[in-house]
Amino acid sequence: MPPVIRPATREDFADITAIYNEAGIGTTASYDLEEVSVENRLQWWQQRRTMNHPVLVATVNETVLGFASYGPFRSKSGYRYTVEHGVYVLPEHHHSGLGRMLMTALIDHAHGHRMHVMMGVVDAANTASIAFHRKLGFVEVGRMVEVAHKFDCWQDAVLMQLTFS
Ligand SMILES: CC(C)(COP(=O)(O)OP(=O)(O)OC[C@H]1O[C@@H](n2cnc3c(N)ncnc32)[C@H](O)[C@@H]1OP(=O)(O)O)[C@@H](O)C(=O)NCCC(=O)NCCS
Repeated sequence: MPPVIRPATREDFADITAIYNEAGIGTTASYDLEEVSVENRLQWWQQRRTMNHPVLVATVNETVLGFASYGPFRSKSGYRYTVEHGVYVLPEHHHSGLGRMLMTALIDHAHGHRMHVMMGVVDAANTASIAFHRKLGFVEVGRMVEVAHKFDCWQDAVLMQLTFS
């Protein structure tokens, strides 16, 4: 069966939580430090839905293999046309096109909702994600030095930007 990209439903959140805890918390892909609960992710989803921001999943045979979402970049109103996204695919399914499919749908959603900029804040050591974002047309616009602390180390973050014309 080909992969399907669709909005997340409540039933997907056990899988979304497991993917985030493995691909995000267990690495520097996310600067969250502690594993999250399904309840935590459901609250996050509710916040996203309140703002009409999407959480999308990639499934094969109804098994969730990855997810992507965007939310506000910064809280002040002047930033209302800029969103910050995250995308996570189970490690054993990397390089199978799921990340691109998720991001293509997420970009379409952002463009369709009149967003102007999508911003990825990517750990500087996450060269896979930086290469992936470049392939999707994102451009590096900045490096923030030692802005995070995880795994007992300071972490640098790269700002990857996609601007809609
Ligand atoms: C980054 C991530 C989402 C990419 O997902 P993926 O499903 O493996 O990527 P795809 O197979 O769709 O690849 C899309 C393009 O990116 C490129 N790419 C993906 N991983 C790459 C890597 N490690 N090095 C170089 N290029 C890479 C692919 O070659 C492909 O290019 P092509 O279409 O021209 O051939 C995935 O590696 C992941 O979940 N990483 C852990 C979580 C993470 O870092 N998320 C980003 C935080 S913002």
